[in-house]
Amino acid sequence: MEAILGQYPRLVAFAERLLALFPFLEKALKKLPAVKREMQAEQQKATLSVEHTLKPYDPGFLELPGQGVAPTKLKAQMRERMQKENPRWQKGLVSGGVYHGQKEHIDFLNEIYAMHSQTNPLHVDLWPSITRYENEITSMTANLLGKRESQADIVGSVTSGGTESILLAMKTYRDHAREVRGIRHGEMIVPETAHAAFDKAAMYFGIKKRTVPVGADMRADVRSVRRALSSRTIVVVGSAPSFPHGVIDPIAEMSELARRAGAGFHTDACLGGFVLPFARELGYSAPDFDFRLPGVTSLSADTHKFGYAAKGTSVVLYRSASLREHQFYITTDWPGGLYFSPTLAGSRPGALIAQCRAAMLRMGRQGYQDAARRIFFTARKIKEGLADIEGLELLGDSLFVIAFKSKDLNIYNISERLGRAGWNLNGLHRPACLHLCVTLLHTQKGVAGRFLKDLKIAVQAERKAPLKSAGMAPVYGMAAALPARGIVRDLLRAVLDRIYRP
Ligand SMILES: Cc1ncc(COP(=O)(O)O)c(C=O)c1O
Repeated sequence: MEAILGQYPRLVAFAERLLALFPFLEKALKKLPAVKREMQAEQQKATLSVEHTLKPYDPGFLELPGQGVAPTKLKAQMRERMQKENPRWQKGLVSGGVYHGQKEHIDFLNEIYAMHSQTNPLHVDLWPSITRYENEITSMTANLLGKRESQADIVGSVTSGGTESILLAMKTYRDHAREVRGIRHGEMIVPETAHAAFDKAAMYFGIKKRTVPVGADMRADVRSVRRALSSRTIVVVGSAPSFPHGVIDPIAEMSELARRAGAGFHTDACLGGFVLPFARELGYSAPDFDFRLPGVTSLSADTHKFGYAAKGTSVVLYRSASLREHQFYITTDWPGGLYFSPTLAGSRPGALIAQCRAAMLRMGRQGYQDAARRIFFTARKIKEGLADIEGLELLGDSLFVIAFKSKDLNIYNISERLGRAGWNLNGLHRPACLHLCVTLLHTQKGVAGRFLKDLKIAVQAERKAPLKSAGMAPVYGMAAALPARGIVRDLLRAVLDRIYRP
């Protein structure tokens, strides 16, 4: 079916709009026996493929063992799995995922983690050191991102990751708008390329999301932002850079529009927060995106990405304490006592905060700048090589996320072929493309050259004899071609259910 639909993208887009406008049509469609049969067949195909590719181990322990397993045995088993799973990222074959990866750095962070593994900043009185580290992390990040120049009282929190930072910021704008601006049904303006976490926030917190398109350069369209602004706008969002194509939205223009409308502006620098500040001093051009711009009222930057800390931390910052206070949770009537917590979680892993602080201090400004230099250099080399491969086309002008598509080849088949050569790239759609997010692991000797060589071989092989229905290609093919998004959603729900079943 997707092969036929894929030939009529305009018809598909029209049908998609129609189905979105009239949800009952999709419900009726799902009841048709032929559609039901097709959906069941697709679900079966997808879940089988999940079993093969994502669940290579036997189900393991389904009940607690009567007696505890010997630690030596457990360690041996778990170490063996890591030894199997780690080499791929260690060799620099994975897009994003692991950002630093050097053994000494990891060993050091693990040591700091172990030292603090029992700490929990919920108990502010028991471990004041963790609170102090959290304040150091937010302050160091704020100073990297324009605090001094802004002369504002930038404050923030350490969260569990980019998604939590974004969720919290959106909740903060919702509650601020309700309490201060009297807006009951607030709207957020979000470019279509902004991270899915904004959609999640809209869903979780009941905020209406107005999506604005991007231009041919994959950056948010400023005119559409202007048109979408209304008295209900609580926040406008821009990425620095965006996850899919690594481009920086026109944050100066967008945040100025928001400021004039009295709305907030959130820069999502989850990916770029610890890389972009070094671009200009290293001779690369990058626009302003942080608190130096007066309209930017909040920002997220992930320490567990290019901040080079272990997974589980990010920073969310606000231009003022009076904005941040809408993030906090406080209850005064609970029999469990007077209770307050700054972020989504109650108890929090203090050890992650401690190792994050240690990662930042071990790197220092110089360390981050050196890392950025190597990453920009490698990305430029890959982009130049990629531009010479016939049939491929770069998307957007990015500094370290390399997105590319093909006019005449099935890009997901290229991804499948690269996968067989050991690579793990991100498959994206709308438009169909792949990306490689360059990290320090790709700056290792020989990695960029190997990538370009394998990519060239994959393209040539695909041109000679296109793969038939392999790996994720049919799933993406269907997702792109099927106008009924509810059906695609149902399929993904079934996949998720299968992944999280013993
Ligand atoms: C631009 C951007 N924002 C937000 C996120 C979400 O971060 P996390 O996966 O840590 O929740 C990502 C993740 O890649 C991202 O690239």
